[in-house]
Amino acid sequence: MKIAVIGSTGQLGTDLMKTLGATHEVIGLTHDDIEVADYDSCLTLKTHKPDIVINTAAFHKTDLCEEEPLKTFSVNALGARNVALIAKEIDATAVFISTDYVFDGTKNEPYTEEDVPAPVNTYGISKLAAEHFTRQNPKHYIVRMASVFGKAGASGKGGNFVETMIKKAKNSEPITVVDDMWMSPTYTKDAAAVIKEIAEQQLPYGVYHAANKGYCSWYQFAEQIFRFTGLTPDLKPIKTEQLTAKAKRPRFSALKSIKLTKYGIEVPTWKEALHEYLIEKGHILKDSS
Ligand SMILES: NC(=O)c1ccc[n+]([C@@H]2O[C@H](COP(=O)([O-])OP(=O)(O)OC[C@H]3O[C@@H](n4cnc5c(N)ncnc54)[C@H](OP(=O)(O)O)[C@@H]3O)[C@@H](O)[C@H]2O)c1
Repeated sequence: MKIAVIGSTGQLGTDLMKTLGATHEVIGLTHDDIEVADYDSCLTLKTHKPDIVINTAAFHKTDLCEEEPLKTFSVNALGARNVALIAKEIDATAVFISTDYVFDGTKNEPYTEEDVPAPVNTYGISKLAAEHFTRQNPKHYIVRMASVFGKAGASGKGGNFVETMIKKAKNSEPITVVDDMWMSPTYTKDAAAVIKEIAEQQLPYGVYHAANKGYCSWYQFAEQIFRFTGLTPDLKPIKTEQLTAKAKRPRFSALKSIKLTKYGIEVPTWKEALHEYLIEKGHILKDSS
């Protein structure tokens, strides 16, 4: 297959390039190559004529999205629309990467592909709009992830949660992390493998959840990072209300996939994924546990 990856230098994009590139012809499109918010810029997809277009581009600084709704909707929602419609014109499948933030977090058990989204912040609303726009191309996959960590680090956010925790610990900074917000961490290497399977097996079009198995609070995630790395920082739990974040966040946005189980696709647990990531980044040795 010929596959175009938009946002090819991002966390997920980097792993998609590697994972898909092993067996397919992959065209990586950086932000310099394509601006998803600009329809004319997206026409570049037509010159490549891919079978599949994977759109990982996003404006995902959740708090900033509250202050910049126009940019948020231009990149996330209209960007998804531009990509999905141009993909449709060239008979390509559109893959849109979405988020657990399309849910309101009140379910108190993991959200499946069958749950009805009800986002509580501008970022989540723009991503849900993007999901709807993506459906305008009948050949579509909407792949939701959460709390992403990958070797490349998020370009807009300067790393990822794991790297931030390790850096603070090494600098002997006191660390506070919320213990009343739960999510399903997602290792981009595993998410890329899921997307590869979905595409190769030509699974039915629609929504798929591709987070790692299980869930934890952000505090528990931090604890596990330090357990694996052997770092012993001054780590303390705090409550969400102690933060001064602009955007409201879902309290419990864990994801679970009914569909991947149904189609025999296995995803590692978040702890296994974290361990693998720490090895990949050279933070721990291969045989450590
Ligand atoms: N990060 C998370 O915790 C998280 C959680 C759930 C879902 N997601 C979703 O997962 C996807 C991938 O996330 P990620 O962490 O891999 O993101 P990332 O590392 O920030 O990568 C995004 C890539 O898209 C490019 N890009 C940004 N704006 C663009 C635009 N307007 N036009 C074209 N390219 C653009 C970026 O290039 P530049 O850096 O050069 O601008 C970057 O290469 C996103 O759709 C995000 O909404 C992320």
